[in-house]
Amino acid sequence: MTNVFSLSATLRDRIQSRQAKVVTVGLGYVGLPLALTLSEEGFPVTGLDLNADRVAAINAGRQVISYFAKDRIRNAVLSGRFAASCDEAVLDEADVVVICVPTPLSDTRAPDLSHVLGAAETIARHLRPGQLIVLESTVWPGATTMVLRPVLEAGGLRAGDDFFLAFSPEREDPGNDRFSTRAIPKVVGADDARSLDLADLFYAQVVTRTVPVGSSATAEAVKLVENSFRTVNIALVNELKVALQAMGVDVWEVIRAAATKPFGFMPFYPGPGIGGDCIPVSPVYLSWRARDVGSAVPIIDLARKNNDEAPDLIAGRIAVELARDGVKMKDARILIMGIAYKKDVEDTRESPALAILKRLEAMGARCLYHDPFFPVMPVTRDHPDLAGRQSQTLDEDVLATCDAVLIATDHTNADYRCVARHARLILDSRNVLEAMGLRPERGRLVKV
Ligand SMILES: NC(=O)c1ccc[n+]([C@@H]2O[C@H](COP(=O)([O-])OP(=O)(O)OC[C@H]3O[C@@H](n4cnc5c(N)ncnc54)[C@H](O)[C@@H]3O)[C@@H](O)[C@H]2O)c1
Repeated sequence: MTNVFSLSATLRDRIQSRQAKVVTVGLGYVGLPLALTLSEEGFPVTGLDLNADRVAAINAGRQVISYFAKDRIRNAVLSGRFAASCDEAVLDEADVVVICVPTPLSDTRAPDLSHVLGAAETIARHLRPGQLIVLESTVWPGATTMVLRPVLEAGGLRAGDDFFLAFSPEREDPGNDRFSTRAIPKVVGADDARSLDLADLFYAQVVTRTVPVGSSATAEAVKLVENSFRTVNIALVNELKVALQAMGVDVWEVIRAAATKPFGFMPFYPGPGIGGDCIPVSPVYLSWRARDVGSAVPIIDLARKNNDEAPDLIAGRIAVELARDGVKMKDARILIMGIAYKKDVEDTRESPALAILKRLEAMGARCLYHDPFFPVMPVTRDHPDLAGRQSQTLDEDVLATCDAVLIATDHTNADYRCVARHARLILDSRNVLEAMGLRPERGRLVKV
């Protein structure tokens, strides 16, 4: 009978020689770049995804994520070391399985681990001795052990003895080309020494630095702490924006100057609210688990509340500024620039721009949008009713029909010069115009 020593020695060899077959479950913003990086480093990789259209597009080499280097997906497919599939049978051959499925919030704003459970049940049907299973999806501390492990062990195989189980949080920053997957240190945690050793070895093949920690719960907590840190600081800076404004002080200038302190300060910038799949979601996972174990994180909860209210505050400020120009909300026509949750990505998950748009329309305004990444408004989880609207061309004629332009997302390739030249009222939530040295030529600029 094969014992755990030979199982781990075999997997070690296969990882080190890059013969280990890898399956990434989920080919989204996290799973796809990971799969490509692994195949570029010489591993044979299959990406398993439920979405047949996405699988077909990836196998056809299409650029499904706009900020990837041109032909990156195509080259990976042509190399013969990477393919996408909807067929769970690919798991039979896998040596390493990495789970990168969504972990959103439920309708009641609680952690929703249904995709992780779905992936776990699929993997469990194909689990065999000697496989390494790694969860990368963001989960609450303890979930790998308490949620994933029991599903995988239901068939009788034991983690740490028959197969290996670890957690390694994803730290991808979509659209940020200063840090590639390889350059970002990878935290790895597991509940037994062999699983930790193998998972650490696996990631050491593709990233320049791994950071092993003592348990999967620790690694899970690392991710939530990183994101909660951002949540709290973003809430703080948005609060400071309002308070300093009342004192006649520009928060942007304050932060620029404070950031010159070489230690003990890290700049965060105001904005219209937070979006994406991480910053609004992770603190909820942490807070939920804290309550679950009889503790609490009130500072994080308050920051979440502030961030959730940010779009409403911006909408209220827009109403005030329009009123100064003698425009009532029910007569206002407002152009929103950027509907993605952050610059230069085609991702609208939890985008504050959409929340502002809805709020302005609830107040009676008519909203248009301009976003080069979205010629047509996609179906979104929170605002499916907006789907199908079309992005406006940004030109003098369109701007002439608008009472105000809100810069919600600061995409690099938008024509801010045209806005500065022709808009009547510019509401800049990202301080783009000042950063570009632009002044309004006929209208008014308000930093909101
Ligand atoms: N997007 C980010 O910037 C980012 C950064 C760090 C961490 N994360 C975390 O990584 C995880 C994945 O996020 P993402 O942004 O890649 O999600 P995503 O929505 O872009 O992609 C997830 C993919 O998983 C597929 N999928 C869902 N259930 C599946 C199943 N049972 N089997 C196979 N495929 C399945 C979906 O079809 C989808 O293509 C989440 O937990 C997220 O919080 C995301």
